[in-house]
Amino acid sequence: MSPERRPSFLAEHVDRLAGTHLRELLKDVARGKRLRHRLGPVLLDLSRQKLDLKALDALGAHVEASGWQAARDAMFAGAPINTSENRAVLHTALRASGSQLPSPAPRDALTEIEQTLQRMDALVKAMELGDASAFGVAPGITDVVNIGIGGSDLGPRLAVRALAPYHVPGLRSHFLTNVDGQSAYELMHQLDPKRTLVIVVSKTFTTQETLLNGTVLRDWISRAYNGDKAAVSRHFLAVSANVAEAEKWGVPAAQVYPMWDFVGGRFSLWSAVGLSLAIAIGSYNFHELLRGAALVDDHFRSAAWSENLPVLLSLVEYWNRNAQGRGSRAVVPYADLLTDLTSYLQQLEMESLGKQVTPQGQHVAQSTSAVVWGSVGTNAQHAYFQSLHQGTDVVPLEFIGVVKPAHDLNANHEALLSNLLAQAAALALGKTFDEALAEATSGTEEQRRVLAAQRTFPGDRPSTVTLLDALTPESLGALIALYEHKVFMLGHLWGINAFDQWGVELGKAIARQILPALGEDGTKHADSFDSATQALIEAIHERRTAL
Ligand code: F6P
Repeated sequence: MSPERRPSFLAEHVDRLAGTHLRELLKDVARGKRLRHRLGPVLLDLSRQKLDLKALDALGAHVEASGWQAARDAMFAGAPINTSENRAVLHTALRASGSQLPSPAPRDALTEIEQTLQRMDALVKAMELGDASAFGVAPGITDVVNIGIGGSDLGPRLAVRALAPYHVPGLRSHFLTNVDGQSAYELMHQLDPKRTLVIVVSKTFTTQETLLNGTVLRDWISRAYNGDKAAVSRHFLAVSANVAEAEKWGVPAAQVYPMWDFVGGRFSLWSAVGLSLAIAIGSYNFHELLRGAALVDDHFRSAAWSENLPVLLSLVEYWNRNAQGRGSRAVVPYADLLTDLTSYLQQLEMESLGKQVTPQGQHVAQSTSAVVWGSVGTNAQHAYFQSLHQGTDVVPLEFIGVVKPAHDLNANHEALLSNLLAQAAALALGKTFDEALAEATSGTEEQRRVLAAQRTFPGDRPSTVTLLDALTPESLGALIALYEHKVFMLGHLWGINAFDQWGVELGKAIARQILPALGEDGTKHADSFDSATQALIEAIHERRTAL
C-alpha cells in the first residue's frame, strides 16, 4: 500500500512487527488474555491478529482521541448523523425493548416502534394459531414468500435459515429476490397460490426487482381467483416506509407494516422487515433476537474501548486494512445454518463503508471498506484455502463456530470444530522449511529440498475466531449487532457516512435507460449508448431473432 495512506502513528508498529512471526506473538499469555473477550453467548478471540499490545494500545489511544463515545451517543440519541439524507440512524431503538439501559432515542420513535412490534406479535400469534383473518390474511396459509432485495431480503433470509431449528411447524418460508424470472417461475411451480402469503418488503416501494416479482406473484394468485381483487389482497402484506405507494400497488393500508426513514435497509432486520422471520420462529424467539442485539447495544454503550467487542473488531479491521494494507477479508462460518452470513455482511459492510468521500465532500485520507467474501467451512477448505495458506497475498480470515449444535451428530460436530481450530492454527503457525524437509524422507537431497520448499507454509496469516455457545435467536442477534457497531466504528474512524448508499444509483439509472432498448422495437433506441453497450444490445437482438 502507498505509504501516505498508512496512518503514520501505526508505521513504527508495522515495522517492528514485520520481523515477529505470529508463532512468537502467540507465546505471550498476557497478550492472549487482552485479545480474548466474552460477551454473553459470544466469545471473541482476536489473539491470532498480527499485533502486539503496543500496537493495540496505539490503536486504543487513537480511538480514544477520536471522540467515538460522543459519536456513538449521538447515534443512539437519534441525531441526524446520516447527513447526506439528513436522517437519524435508529436501528438500535428497534430493539430497545430488550435493553437494560434506558433508551435515549426520541420518545415518538420508540412509541411507533413499540406499536409496530405489538401489531407484529398479534399477527404472528394469529398465524401460529392458523387464523389471521382479523389481519386481512386468507385462511389455510402454508407458505410465506418474502419478496425483497438487499436489506429487505438479506437479514430475514440469514436469520430464517440460521434459526431453522426454531421454526414453527406447518409454515414454510421462501425468499424471492433476484429479478431473474427463473426463481419466480420455479416458486410458482412449487407452491399453491391459494395457500401462499406474500410479504412485499421494500423501504422505498420503488425497487424494480421487488415490484416486478411482486407483480408476477400477484398475477399468479389473481389467476387462481379469476381476478377477484379482494381475494387476492388477502394473500399480500407489505412492509414499507412508503405506505401510500404500497397501497397504490394494491396492499390494503391495514396490511402494510411501517418502516421508517431512521432505519437503513441493511440495519432493518429488527423492524417489520423481520416479519417473515417472526412468522417463521414465533414472537418469543423474535424478541429473543432483539434481546441478543440489545445486549451488545448496552455493552457498546458502556464498555471501555479495551473491553468493547465492536470497538476491538473495528480496530483490528483498521489495523489490517490501513496499517497492513489488506484489501479483503474472508468470512468463513463453520455452520451450514450460517450459510447466508457472508452475503449479509457483504451488504452491511461494503454498502456502508465502500465510500471515498467524506460528508464534507473531501477525499478520504485512507483506504476504506475491504472486500468481504467467503463461504462455509469445511467446504471452503476444499476450494480456496490453498491460496489462503500458500498464495502470495495475505487475506485476514474470520472464523465463526458454534460450540453446541442443534443436532445430536456429535462426531460430525467435533470434526467440524476441529477443522475450524486447525485452520486458524495452521494459518498462524505455518510450517517451516526445516519442518517440511524433515518430513520428506525419500529421494535425493536435492529432490527433498525442492519438495520441502513447496510444502512449506509461511504462516503468520491473521484470523479472528468467534465462538457462539449455540446458534440461538439471542446469540444470532448479538452476532449481527456486533457487526453493525463495528461498521459504525469504522465509518467514524474513516470519517465517512456509513448510512447512505449513493453508489448504487448510477447503475439503476442506466438500467432504466437500457430497458426500452431491449424490447421488441429496441432498435429505435440505437446510438443512445456507449459503443460497448450498444454492441451488446445489438448482439442480444441478433441472437434472440436467430435462436
Ligand atoms: O441496493 C440499494 C438498496 O437501496 C439497499 O440499500 C436496500 O437495502 C435495497 O436497495 C432495497 O431497497 P428497498 O427496501 O427500498 O426495496
